[in-house]
Amino acid sequence: MNIDELKSVANAIVAEQKGVLAADESGPTIKKRFDSIQVESTEESRRRYREILFTADGIERTVGGVILYDETLRQSSRDGIPFPRLLADRGIIPGIKVDQGAKALALYPGDKVTEGLDGLRERLAEYRQLGARFAKWRAVIEIDEREIPSTFGIRANAHALARYAALCQEAGLVPIVEPEVLMDGAHGIERCETVTAQVLQAVFAELDAHRVLFEGMLLKPNMVIAGKKCLRQAGVQEVAEATLRCLRRTVPAAVPGIVFLSGGQSAEDATDHLNAMNAMGPQPWEVSFSYGRALQAPVLAAWQGQENNVAAAQTALLNRCHLNGLARAGKYDRAMEGAA
Ligand code: 13P
Repeated sequence: MNIDELKSVANAIVAEQKGVLAADESGPTIKKRFDSIQVESTEESRRRYREILFTADGIERTVGGVILYDETLRQSSRDGIPFPRLLADRGIIPGIKVDQGAKALALYPGDKVTEGLDGLRERLAEYRQLGARFAKWRAVIEIDEREIPSTFGIRANAHALARYAALCQEAGLVPIVEPEVLMDGAHGIERCETVTAQVLQAVFAELDAHRVLFEGMLLKPNMVIAGKKCLRQAGVQEVAEATLRCLRRTVPAAVPGIVFLSGGQSAEDATDHLNAMNAMGPQPWEVSFSYGRALQAPVLAAWQGQENNVAAAQTALLNRCHLNGLARAGKYDRAMEGAA
């Protein structure tokens, strides 16, 4: 295991102002995104869309890494430059989603567990050859008011995450460990905090048991937030405080960075929450973003699958990247929305 390389890649992804663009939607997920703008999902439309994202001039100022999907890692720009090389040439580190999705956990109704460990060692070796320097695995934790997730469901997901992370480090890839407690449901922010803390405790215990080097990984958690259907939605400051309290209790200071998922928050909320946390800094780790929807929703809306909207789509991406870059330093203000 090349410890120095793992540490330097992990640190570079969360360097000053920087975070991650999650562009690793699986086939069914990108189809859902394209359906929302009436664009047919074909290999070429997916390739073109990702090319628009990756060639937006200036994203390298705030994007330290991009997470790709298997198909995208193997695709190229119009000029024939493989995407991993195109990104690396711009100083952006290419990464790869390696899990194969969350499935129902047998005999535990309501719990899910993520699959994809079989053959992972071989896949990681190939991904590294294709240019990936980090990887991502998402565990999905559904939540209800009382019984879900079960203690065993949490343990099963933590174990899979740790096995994946250890295989990544063995292969020279930085693992982004993503245990996502979903914001679906009517639970309050307190319930989200309790479950997120349980999940993170279990995850770090398993990572430790699997000998994963904390300095050579990144954590991609949910923010602590009320369920979407909850009648009492917490304010920005409350979300920031609850999230930091939860993470400070559970995430070792040796981890170089936290890169939050957006999880269905609006682009503005995701930026605002990130900003509030950084305004309360410094924290033991870099506090950054690894947003999918919160970076791409405005891009899809501007693009609409039309070539003559490409410049507007790239401007929308740059604007979101820029605002999140400011939020990394606690210098974002909601009044900046719409000013671009
Ligand atoms: P969202 O920011 O849209 O939640 O996506 C991040 C991600 O990578 C989910 O696995």
